[in-house]
Amino acid sequence: MCTITSRLTEPYVLATAVAVLAVLVSTLAMGLFSRSTSFDPRGKFCYVPGGSAGLGKALAEDLVRRGAHVVIVARDASRSADTIAGLKKLAGGDAERKLFAVSADLTSQEASEAALAEACAAFGGRAPDYVFLCAGFSKPQLFVNATAADLKSGLDGVYWVSAWTAHAVVKMMVKQRVKGTITFVSSFVGYAAIAGYSPYAPGKFALRGLADSLRAEMFLHDIKVHLYMPAGILSPGYENEQKTKHAITKKIEESDTPISPEAAVRYLVRGIEKGNYQITNDFMTDMVRVATAGPVPWNGPLDLVYSALSAIVMPIFRQVVDGTVRSSKKSVEEELQAQGFFDN
Ligand SMILES: *[C@@H]1O[C@H](CO)[C@@H](O)[C@H](O)[C@H]1NC(C)=O
Repeated sequence: MCTITSRLTEPYVLATAVAVLAVLVSTLAMGLFSRSTSFDPRGKFCYVPGGSAGLGKALAEDLVRRGAHVVIVARDASRSADTIAGLKKLAGGDAERKLFAVSADLTSQEASEAALAEACAAFGGRAPDYVFLCAGFSKPQLFVNATAADLKSGLDGVYWVSAWTAHAVVKMMVKQRVKGTITFVSSFVGYAAIAGYSPYAPGKFALRGLADSLRAEMFLHDIKVHLYMPAGILSPGYENEQKTKHAITKKIEESDTPISPEAAVRYLVRGIEKGNYQITNDFMTDMVRVATAGPVPWNGPLDLVYSALSAIVMPIFRQVVDGTVRSSKKSVEEELQAQGFFDN
């Protein structure tokens, strides 16, 4: 009996030892991928498109508390003015501090270049040290019900609104040999597109593609790239998207609790300090992150555990979500019928 047991366990012991060794080795290797960095924007020039509300505004406030010069960009001049007044108050009458807003619609290339030039003019034409691409909007709805304009503005207002600035900023940083940091803001939906996000998710996927490309290329110029993939954040943008969001999407998201912009900023800053490329703010996003990362760096040894868990969690997630959509088939049919959508 004893020998049988020992024979049975021997390969197990060996396999376990090999597995533990493999885990240790890859853990060490992964430790090398994600290096913690110092995040000290004191006295630095931070450029924050979308800084008048929500995540961007909370981030601008955090940067001001850390002693940074902050330029926000937004379409709504009166909202920007309120935000800047608040930022100045936070800076406590520090006359040296440059805090102002540029008014622009960043969905066009020309406006994005002009806004950047206007911001940089106050710094003698120098490129920003930190760029946080927080601008964007969302109009989620069912694909069949979206207009061509909705789909087009979905890409303009989610992808191009950040991509044009990224292009202008990178060219400027490289020309001036500024070793800056660029942070893209995508979304949970940039990993996992769920029903009702067809006007929005493609832009968020595209942003991830751009950030991944730049992460891989910017070593050439010592420019750091981060990609923030937050789940729901309570903000004017979120409230606005609730207006068009279909009931199915709301049902799928009903167990999610959106977090405050301030909490979302804490996750972002912690991620930057840890030197993480992809930054998340909840467990479920980590599950989709490790499932979709491809060759981009992991955030540390814990990602090994997450990977194993994700292999179990993802199929369950899919089944639950697909089940929700399937069970809404009849009600959507009725909705569309009432709209006179069908040919017959
Ligand atoms: C389609 O859009 C209209 C207006 O935007 C909305 O009232 C309607 O509920 C939508 N229908 C479906 C099936 O989503």
